[in-house]
Amino acid sequence: MAASIIVTGGRPLSGEVRVGGAKNSALKLMAAALLAPGVSVVNNVPAITDVATMADVLRGLGVGVERDDHTLRIDATQITSHEAPYELVARMRASIIVLGPLVARLGRARVAMPGGCNIGSRKIDMHIRGLQDLGVAIDLGHGYIEATAPEGLHGAHVILDFPSVGATENLLMAAVLAEGTTTIENAAREPEIGDLVDMLVSMGARIEGRGSATLVVTGVHELAPVRHRTVGDRIEAGTYLVAGALTGGPVTVRGVTPGHLEMVLTKLEQAGCDVGGLADGVTIRRDRAIRPVDVATLPYPGFPTDMQAQFMALMSLADGSSVITENVFENRFMFADEIRRMGADITIEGHRALVRGTDRLSGAPVICPDLRGGAALVLAGLVAEGETVVTEVEHILRGYESFTEKLRSLGADVRLAD
Ligand code: EPZ
Repeated sequence: MAASIIVTGGRPLSGEVRVGGAKNSALKLMAAALLAPGVSVVNNVPAITDVATMADVLRGLGVGVERDDHTLRIDATQITSHEAPYELVARMRASIIVLGPLVARLGRARVAMPGGCNIGSRKIDMHIRGLQDLGVAIDLGHGYIEATAPEGLHGAHVILDFPSVGATENLLMAAVLAEGTTTIENAAREPEIGDLVDMLVSMGARIEGRGSATLVVTGVHELAPVRHRTVGDRIEAGTYLVAGALTGGPVTVRGVTPGHLEMVLTKLEQAGCDVGGLADGVTIRRDRAIRPVDVATLPYPGFPTDMQAQFMALMSLADGSSVITENVFENRFMFADEIRRMGADITIEGHRALVRGTDRLSGAPVICPDLRGGAALVLAGLVAEGETVVTEVEHILRGYESFTEKLRSLGADVRLAD
């Protein structure tokens, strides 16, 4: 039964919300625990369905995973299977992130090929090529990736065609146990990569270049289990900041490092918002008309693709036209088709969207196209006239903990309905 979120627009939002740990870090930190025999503890893990799925992937490998509130206890003393089965990888393509650590720890891995999803083909050629550079033999057949390293992994000089987040993470987690030195050039620089580097280093890994596009890894023989706290979720934070920008606020978001949102904050200021940085958060308010601002999504520190739909919702009410360019994924404008039903004036041409601001949106039934597009539809509903019903919101629940509760705590008229 598809759940839906019902939101009635027009309520001013104000107050404070706290974001959780980053979904796009926690999933990888869980995979990193595979590298060390023993019990690792990861704190500040969001209670979302993607984390539950990754826990099932680890349990399928014979690894113990216990959750207590926002803390995970992962016992990777024994890994009794080297396979991540299709039904789990199909449920969450990020499961591919166990490939690197498994082949590093066990010398072999069998992971189902992740399907594409509705934002793009989500290829993994850079993961494969990089692992082959490290000495992994890869056989693709029957929908599975068979990875073996009979002679163990050896250091390599890898240059990524594109600063892929997942490829950087998989290669990093393979290289830490490889014989010799590995250089990863054109590595992704997202804060979640830095968080993973921090955990690996505290496990005993030797990694230089944290936060830069060149990571140099000197392999070690073994890593030790560790306790690590997940970095705050900058995309969850940005989502609530856009809620504040749309409704006027003031809204304060805690639990995030403002420096991880610099480009988003710059664009929100250009759009007419007042933004104040705090030690562990950001406050936003808007007292003037929304100004049109052009945005192009790029790898970090550029404007994050995961904030593109939310920003498009804001631009759909700007007093002028803006151009939003999606450079990271090939099909990430499905949100535009749905918000048009609410009266937005958006023209898509290839990877560019021309957004002509209108002075109002009207509530309508809409379908959640993906995680971030769905969240953006709820945001649009906060300021639309009347009621918006967003269906198929399972996508949202996989990445946002207590989404409707947090919005309600700011004064929104929103509820989750089965
Ligand atoms: C991570 O996906 C995030 N997911 C995505 O967040 C995020 O949008 C993306 O990074 C970019 O920041 C997780 O961390 C779980 P990529 P990932 O590898 O690692 C192409 C969300 O909403 N590519 O940087 O898959 C790929 O097709 C999700 O939370 C190849 O061609 O992103 C894409 O077009 C959505 N070959 C582009 O690179 C490869 O081998 C960026 O992909 C790998 C990637």
